[in-house]
Amino acid sequence: MMKAKVVKMSEEELDLAALQEAGEILRRGGLVGFPTETVYGLGGNALDPSASRKIYAAKGRPSDNPLIIHIADMDDLPYIVKNIPEKAAWLAEAFWPGPLTMIFEKSDVVPYETTGGLDTVAVRFPSHKIAKEMILAGGGYVAAPSANTSGRPSPTEAKHVEEDLGEEIDMIIDGGRVDIGLESTIVDCTVDPPVILRPGYVNQEMLEKVINRVEMDPGLTSENEKVRPKAPGMRYRHYAPKAKLVLVDGDDTAVAAYISAEVRKKEAEGQQVGIICADETRELYTEGLIRCIGRRQKEEEIAQRLYAVLRDFDEEDISFIYSETFNTPKIGTAIMNRLNKAAGHEIIYLS
Ligand code: TXA
Ligand code: MG
Repeated sequence: MMKAKVVKMSEEELDLAALQEAGEILRRGGLVGFPTETVYGLGGNALDPSASRKIYAAKGRPSDNPLIIHIADMDDLPYIVKNIPEKAAWLAEAFWPGPLTMIFEKSDVVPYETTGGLDTVAVRFPSHKIAKEMILAGGGYVAAPSANTSGRPSPTEAKHVEEDLGEEIDMIIDGGRVDIGLESTIVDCTVDPPVILRPGYVNQEMLEKVINRVEMDPGLTSENEKVRPKAPGMRYRHYAPKAKLVLVDGDDTAVAAYISAEVRKKEAEGQQVGIICADETRELYTEGLIRCIGRRQKEEEIAQRLYAVLRDFDEEDISFIYSETFNTPKIGTAIMNRLNKAAGHEIIYLS
């Protein structure tokens, strides 16, 4: 295939002609990379089985890992789901449009190609203006996984999409760097109480303010191999950098001392080592390839930069990355979920 056509626009200045063109590409079964408030998505017509197959092929994604259908109008929801549980309606009212995905029983119009063979369907109504306009132009139902090659960190900038999928898709809409930087929170609303299958910007506390009780999928944190996450995508080792990533948890100075000692040891053996630290602890490090991820006091920055930092390290000739942990108050659960997965749950506790 030819290289994807890249068009630039912003939420403030939409390029309506280009959005129309993106819509036409989607309607005739093609694929478009586009920005959302969470990460860039790889969009295809969700009701067209062949478009879904193309998405799996472009990403190199296992076909049992279902896609999220993106809508841009609440009135479009009933067509793709069997029913809307009361609690899902409340959550939609509170968090849509926004970084929340909900699981429903699927209606007959949703092809199994899109749901990875499941009778349930994931639905999200994004708040990003470019995403919304593109979805409407494309017919209202856009299946979109994150626009990365399977196994790489999700794209937070258009150039990441170009790197991974530039040769596989028809068009990329460059809307600049995304706002949140981590994928949406997924809540299974086919069970009561609803269950968080993937933590995100909308956290448990925020959800519980609306529907009282929400559980966390035990598969997300269990060390027991038999307790598997319910969302198929959470079972794979995702977001894996090329270098071996190790997390180090504990008191700031102890963590910096441990990491620095490891860096010296590995450098003496001729290996290059990367370090991921917060702005606040930057000065505790003197060697290694140091990447500041943002301020602990501004946890949004950490979420926003995490994937770009992991991607940056893939460009370097390093064999190890040591990272601090970021159990920040609001988004910490989501940040640590992604970091833990990237590290294959390799974490060292000091204390
Ligand atoms: O923020 C996001 O959600 C981004 C943007 C583009 O909207 N999309 C995204 O899609 O992260 P993807 O495909 O990378 O992740 C979808 C996740 C996977 O872990 C998948 O297994 C899960 O949602 N999922 C989809 N349908 C499901 C279902 N019916 N039951 C359980 N999990 C489901
Ligand atoms: Mg993904």
